[in-house]
Amino acid sequence: MDKIIVTGGGALNGQIPIAGAKNACLALMPASLLSDEPLTLTNVPRLSDIATMGALLRSLGVEVAGLADGRVLAMSGQGAENHVAEYDIVRKMRASNLVLGPLLARHGRAVVSLPGGCAIGARPMDIHVFGLEKLGAEIELREGYLHAGAPNGLKGAEIALAFPSVGATENIVMAATLARGTTVLKNAAREPEICDLAACLRAMGAQIEGAGSDTIVIKGVERLHGATHPVLPDRIELGTYMLAPAIAGGDVELLGGRADLLPTFCEKLAEAGITVEETEAGLRVARRNGRIRAVDVRTEVFPGFPTDLQAQMMALLCTADGESVLEETIFENRFMHAPELMRMGADIEVQGGTARVRGVRRLKGAPVMATDLRASVSLILAGLAAEGETVVSRVYHLDRGYEHVEQKLGGVGARIERVKE
Ligand code: EPZ
Repeated sequence: MDKIIVTGGGALNGQIPIAGAKNACLALMPASLLSDEPLTLTNVPRLSDIATMGALLRSLGVEVAGLADGRVLAMSGQGAENHVAEYDIVRKMRASNLVLGPLLARHGRAVVSLPGGCAIGARPMDIHVFGLEKLGAEIELREGYLHAGAPNGLKGAEIALAFPSVGATENIVMAATLARGTTVLKNAAREPEICDLAACLRAMGAQIEGAGSDTIVIKGVERLHGATHPVLPDRIELGTYMLAPAIAGGDVELLGGRADLLPTFCEKLAEAGITVEETEAGLRVARRNGRIRAVDVRTEVFPGFPTDLQAQMMALLCTADGESVLEETIFENRFMHAPELMRMGADIEVQGGTARVRGVRRLKGAPVMATDLRASVSLILAGLAAEGETVVSRVYHLDRGYEHVEQKLGGVGARIERVKE
């Protein structure tokens, strides 16, 4: 397993290109099951999660060709006859559950392994099941697999979600595009990735209104045709790299970054004393000397502060001037980065879903371990300004969601290298 070594100190200057959004792409790829015609995605990020989704779709009979060194995915659902998503692929990545709605819409049946829990929480699928059953599916859990059937096809319905689950919204919207009649989905997730999926489905001929609001209306159609769709910029990669100059000092432009993708996050950075400026090419973050101010953060669904940036924000607040309180309201176990940051000298107290961070002058490099995707990158960010060397092990977590982090940070002057163990 590889390790990443970061040597702290030195401001960062230059430009970092922002790739296509992992979490948009993982919902867009299963849409290939909804049509016999080709779906082509451009601006695709080169990540192991994307490769995993590609393998899953191939196992279902979708042709998946990676073109232009993996930046373009040409998919064809024409030969997709298999409706069973096997455990050995699904267990690697929870987002595999996003084939459930499309398989039901295409075949009238689906067998999808439950993904199993992951480090950050149990992550059940009750909201997915609730919505698809409202569309007329019968779903039963047997030996760890969801067995779903809609022998008479899916029928539009009025659905009100108990919680605006991103994945459940995506599964229900995709299934509803081919249902008979109209579906009104209330308390829907409002994340930008939902808007990106709706834009792609509309390009394929779906009739969808209201994506980005809490009520989405989908009028079912007979069939969907092919399309070509560019993947939205990755707002979590963007926020992660905005924090690099905020932590290390310097002046970095994030190419392709858009402030509208991170409204609350940008407000919180400003509150901490970090200015974000919109430029022709993206977003510019500069930090001169002087300590940043402590701020309180509460993770919420969009447009609130993203849970996927909580760990990275904590890395910044470890050296703020004062005490910050971070509340994690989306997942039940998403502070696993805290003990690792404490090995670097951070002063953090975790109680349930709340972490109190008392800022220290400077962290000290140490050997630390990645536990999940976003925790891994928060340790790298902390290492950028720590005294001495930080060695992050188990970086395979990182490769799921960040393309060549050592190149992107190294390109703006960070002292960072990946070593094979
Ligand atoms: C998506 O996961 C993202 N993944 C996650 O990003 C992100 O953290 C999450 O949305 C929240 O924004 C992808 O898009 C592939 P949810 P998802 O359903 O859809 C509970 C990353 O780091 N819940 O909105 O699984 C659930 O347990 C990943 O890139 C139910 O209880 O998130 C969680 O506590 C991590 N029952 C909360 O809702 C359900 O049926 C939010 O989950 C579904 C969800």
